[in-house]
Amino acid sequence: MHILHVVGARPNFMKAAPVLHALEKRKTLEQSLVHTGQHYDANMSDVFFSELEIPAPDVNLNVGSGSHARQTAEIMTLFEPIVLERKPDIVLVYGDVNSTLAAALVAAKLGVRVGHVEAGLRSFDWSMPEEINRVVTDRLSDFLFTPSEDGDTNLKREGVPIEKIHRVGNVMIDSLVRLLPAATRYPMNGLPDRYALVTLHRPSNVDNCKTLAKILGSLGEVSKELAVVFPVHPRTRQRILEAGLKVDALYLLDPLPYIEFLALQRRAVVVITDSGGIQEETTYLGVPCLTLRNNTERPVTVSLGTNVLVGPESEDLECELSRIMAGSAKKGTIPPLWDGHAGERIADILESRLQYAV
Ligand code: UD1
Repeated sequence: MHILHVVGARPNFMKAAPVLHALEKRKTLEQSLVHTGQHYDANMSDVFFSELEIPAPDVNLNVGSGSHARQTAEIMTLFEPIVLERKPDIVLVYGDVNSTLAAALVAAKLGVRVGHVEAGLRSFDWSMPEEINRVVTDRLSDFLFTPSEDGDTNLKREGVPIEKIHRVGNVMIDSLVRLLPAATRYPMNGLPDRYALVTLHRPSNVDNCKTLAKILGSLGEVSKELAVVFPVHPRTRQRILEAGLKVDALYLLDPLPYIEFLALQRRAVVVITDSGGIQEETTYLGVPCLTLRNNTERPVTVSLGTNVLVGPESEDLECELSRIMAGSAKKGTIPPLWDGHAGERIADILESRLQYAV
């Protein structure tokens, strides 16, 4: 039985690591790993492989950056001969990035089964490229591994047969649980004791100069009360430079490795972000999270966790921040099955179902 994993961008790596590790122990299964090269900077890719102990990819497609069409098409063109040559029994894809969709499309059209890890999430916002990737990937998949009950509900509503849906919990939390001790020991030198940690990279927030200026202005206001530590995504750095925006009041850093970023998250007074995964990590850590979006595909982080949606251009950020500074931050709980064992559950299902299916 051969399982072929496909990863491409930063948020894929912490999701694939636990599944690779869990499957490694099953001697009946063979696995290989393809990196599309969607993210290629050392600090967006290599460092995650070493910290998460992911084996070197068997193949790197080195596609790099490009428009959505070009990037997706290039991954498809280069991935098709790999599938034909390696003849996997299943292709496993992760999350909602362009690499996820491209690999799923290739596999499905070649008649190879597709497993989608982190299936069923929906923001219901069709202007997000990730939403298109999520919906189409789920439609193409034979095994849909969901992180939470809302995922199952969304898939059933879309008519996905129930036997394809497997609620396994959150694989990204597996990586967090494994590396939290290392993050707790991580020495924090040269940073303020109390700070807001910021990440920002959604096209809807950073590609429009006015919206980006407004958000950076709000962060400037935040910095009058609380230091703002901001590891900057390459896309966002480019936009700030192009627009010549002022960021003097903020503590800018390059994108950080996994353990260092986790160390920063767990000690933050508040995290302000537009990321998907960080909404989940802060919920697990019990750290207040203010999400600069009007919607989320991860509603349990709001209903059960510490997440509050504040929208990118509203006064809610200031208001919620004052609440947190006054010591009355929203308290959260950890959603069911976010326990560090989701990868094992996926391995169990694949081991039993794939043998059974031949
Ligand atoms: C992608 C994902 C997004 C995910 C994010 C995490 C899609 C549609 N989007 O967005 O869901 O949350 O990754 O980071 O797949 N760049 C570099 N070096 C790199 C990678 C990118 O400089 O290693 C720059 C390039 O200028 C590139 C831009 O960042 O054009 C955007 O990269 P891209 O992979 O297209 O999308 P992300 O914004 O990273």
